[in-house]
Amino acid sequence: MSYALSAEAAEFYESTFVPALFGSWARRAVAAAGLTPGRSVLDVACGTGAVARAASAVVGPTGTVVGVDLNPAMLAVARRLRLDLRFLEGDACALPFAAGAFDVAVSQAGLMFFDDQVAALRELGRVAGRVVVQVPGRLSESAGYRALVEVVARHAGPATADLLSVYFSAGSPALLSELLTRAGLLVDSFETWTSATRLDSLDTFLAVELLPFGALEPDVHDRIVLDCRTALAPFVSPTGAVAAPIEVQLVTARALPGARAGGPVGMLSG
Ligand SMILES: C[S@@+](CC[C@H](N)C(=O)[O-])C[C@H]1O[C@@H](n2cnc3c(N)ncnc32)[C@H](O)[C@@H]1O
Repeated sequence: MSYALSAEAAEFYESTFVPALFGSWARRAVAAAGLTPGRSVLDVACGTGAVARAASAVVGPTGTVVGVDLNPAMLAVARRLRLDLRFLEGDACALPFAAGAFDVAVSQAGLMFFDDQVAALRELGRVAGRVVVQVPGRLSESAGYRALVEVVARHAGPATADLLSVYFSAGSPALLSELLTRAGLLVDSFETWTSATRLDSLDTFLAVELLPFGALEPDVHDRIVLDCRTALAPFVSPTGAVAAPIEVQLVTARALPGARAGGPVGMLSG
């Protein structure tokens, strides 16, 4: 994900991706966080604030919710939607908060984009007593996306098809476990579950999901769309709506005792 995302792209993310996918993930991440009214929550790589809003519904007016993200356009949407929550610009790899500033730190669909994933996970454990990380799982176990990538590879070549792989790059349980261990986090629960991207039609699905592959030649684009009508047919209902399965990894963890010291300068309290 580019940090220079436009305002239009951020609004598109909120109006399309959040209802299609990340809104339901957010409710699941927040349920795993074990929040109660009055607790404090940090949403790391908050984007337009899907997790922050879901957390706010649980912690209520006596709780504290802060979101942090590198992308100003995403933050602008988050602030527009919820004036009562705090959204700050910052890097997951060097969070501007004191050790133990929050009860829970949640990061959803962000880890795969972080430059230093171990540093970011260590930061989550430093600033909060409990950590929740949710990421797309393996492409091989995400039937809808696997079918899409196969079609793109056939018509645009494997290098183009590979552009989607970053989204799934932190999704192997073995890799995720290794990253968590290297970050000094103790895993409390590790759940692999299957979600689905839900959109009203195959045309909408392709308009959205072909974006990560970049600019395609018009004839290549048209062949991909045509081929997808067959390859993705198993995921299209009689009404024309699409539900494309995608594997998800959901982990809850906490910092090992003694692993919480340090942190960047200029720290804020929660
Ligand atoms: C797919 S979006 C997920 C947004 C949100 N968590 C959700 O579930 O809708 C990924 C987000 O990660 C943010 N991001 C990427 N690298 C980051 C970093 N190092 N620190 C903070 N945010 C980052 C991007 O700006 C983007 O908003």
